[in-house]
Amino acid sequence: MAIREISTKPYLDQKSGTAGLRKKVAVFQQPHYLENFLQSIFDCVPELRGATLVIGGDGRYYNRTAIQTACSIAAGNGVARIVIGQGGLLSTPAASHLIRKRGAQGGLLFTASHNPAGPDGDFGIKFNVAGGGQASEGLTNRIYEASKQLARYRVHEGGQVDLDRRGLQTLGGMEVEVIDCVDDYSQLMQQLFDFDRIRDWFRRGHTLRFDAMHAVTGPYAERIFVEQLGAPLLSVQNASPLEDFGGGHPDPNLIYAKPLVDLAFGPNGPDLAAASDGDGDRNMILGKDIFISPGDSLAMLAAHLHELPGYRRGLAGLARSMPTCRAADKVAKALAIPLYETPTGWKFFANLLDAGKLTLCGEESFGTSSDHAREKDGVWAVLAWLNVLAVTGLPVKEIAQRHWKRFGRHYYARHDYDELPGPAADSVMQALANQLAELPGRRLGDYTVSEADEFSYRDPVDNSIAVNQGLRVIFGDDARLILRLSGTGTKGSTLRLYLERYETRESALNWEARDALAPLVNLADRIMRIGELTGRKAPSVIT
Ligand code: G6P
Ligand code: ZN
Repeated sequence: MAIREISTKPYLDQKSGTAGLRKKVAVFQQPHYLENFLQSIFDCVPELRGATLVIGGDGRYYNRTAIQTACSIAAGNGVARIVIGQGGLLSTPAASHLIRKRGAQGGLLFTASHNPAGPDGDFGIKFNVAGGGQASEGLTNRIYEASKQLARYRVHEGGQVDLDRRGLQTLGGMEVEVIDCVDDYSQLMQQLFDFDRIRDWFRRGHTLRFDAMHAVTGPYAERIFVEQLGAPLLSVQNASPLEDFGGGHPDPNLIYAKPLVDLAFGPNGPDLAAASDGDGDRNMILGKDIFISPGDSLAMLAAHLHELPGYRRGLAGLARSMPTCRAADKVAKALAIPLYETPTGWKFFANLLDAGKLTLCGEESFGTSSDHAREKDGVWAVLAWLNVLAVTGLPVKEIAQRHWKRFGRHYYARHDYDELPGPAADSVMQALANQLAELPGRRLGDYTVSEADEFSYRDPVDNSIAVNQGLRVIFGDDARLILRLSGTGTKGSTLRLYLERYETRESALNWEARDALAPLVNLADRIMRIGELTGRKAPSVIT
């Protein structure tokens, strides 16, 4: 076998963020950069030797090159078998499922999620562990430490994997299995949802528009929505994955999926409009004339999930990340099940899911999923909504209005200040941190501060503690203002301000979110002085 040990020098910047290592493509193209990081993973996860490893990516520029490199390093490190999605494609949730299904010791996911792609765009690597979940903070820190000491990597030289030919191949002593990227995933979806019922719903003339944003979900959406559920071909737009995502920004939100939003609010909007992101883990849900915020979507699915085949036994528990609005809390209370509040980052749900404490979880950043995988899952969320629509026979708007009448409504928005100089962003955080002690009890506008703190989390399963997870100013049940620094940016610092207002009065359930939140925006200005401290007049993005 042509296995060689190559000496190398460490890079000192291979520290993973909220969801893996993300950098500009040019950074990954530096000599040995990718090899180094991969070797650090293999050094920290010796279980991969002699085991199965899943590999896939979102199809962005550099995906194929990176996968070839990963195969050579895997062969060099004694991996027994690699399972790869055809064309190097696997959505993040499909990869998570495959890791579970194949009993793999891990998976390499080549994605920078919704970040723009292409030679000048971003690239990324996520390592998922056995069971399908993302590497823990502890493991990613160990990998980072190893990367700073790395002196050599092991590689199998010669030979390439044919990523387009399904079936078995070998690379050195390693078996390589190239599989259809949709099959296993769609089988799982058929166990969870009532495909007959959804097919009927389409047959009765109901309509869907799904925007794959030229990213990885195109093949999944065409197979499942069109071929298996009978939706007309036109129901899926931008279905072919492109290396630069068609020049777009495949982040399903009100800004980047604007054409879909316009369609939903236009005269001939579909019954359900939805989009997913670059690697297929995010989702956005819209009905005719209505946008369902991710926090609301989580709560509404929680209220209906037991009506769907895979969830008839009911829900063990619910979880949301701290900045996600507290709508799910109201449903958990009504269902008398626990609600867990975790730090931002899907990985914090993994232990709860593994311990059977959770059935459904979600985040404000357009992520929703259940215990079927260890990642958020965009296509799953769309299927869940389709199934709820088919079972209830109600339009999306009616589902939302009934929900708000029963549980109250959480108006919600996130204001992002992108690409700030690090010190400016830090000064805003520091200025608020300095006030935390004196805020409780203070009356501000119509609200009184009940608590103000820095959020930290103790994992109920392994008791690990995550500190420094964002600053909270809480006004009892009525409202919250939350400030944190993003962990996923690749340029400068991104500051996120999250605004939440709760209303139960019937006359207050159908306001525009913007109007409902205006008083809180003023309050945030007074307390946080973001404009003054950063020189920014307005947020870069409001979602
Ligand atoms: C990724 C992660 C999510 C996280 C989101 C925003 O999508 O998978 O878990 O909520 O990024 O993270 P950030 O640190 O940028 O707010
Ligand atoms: Zn993503």
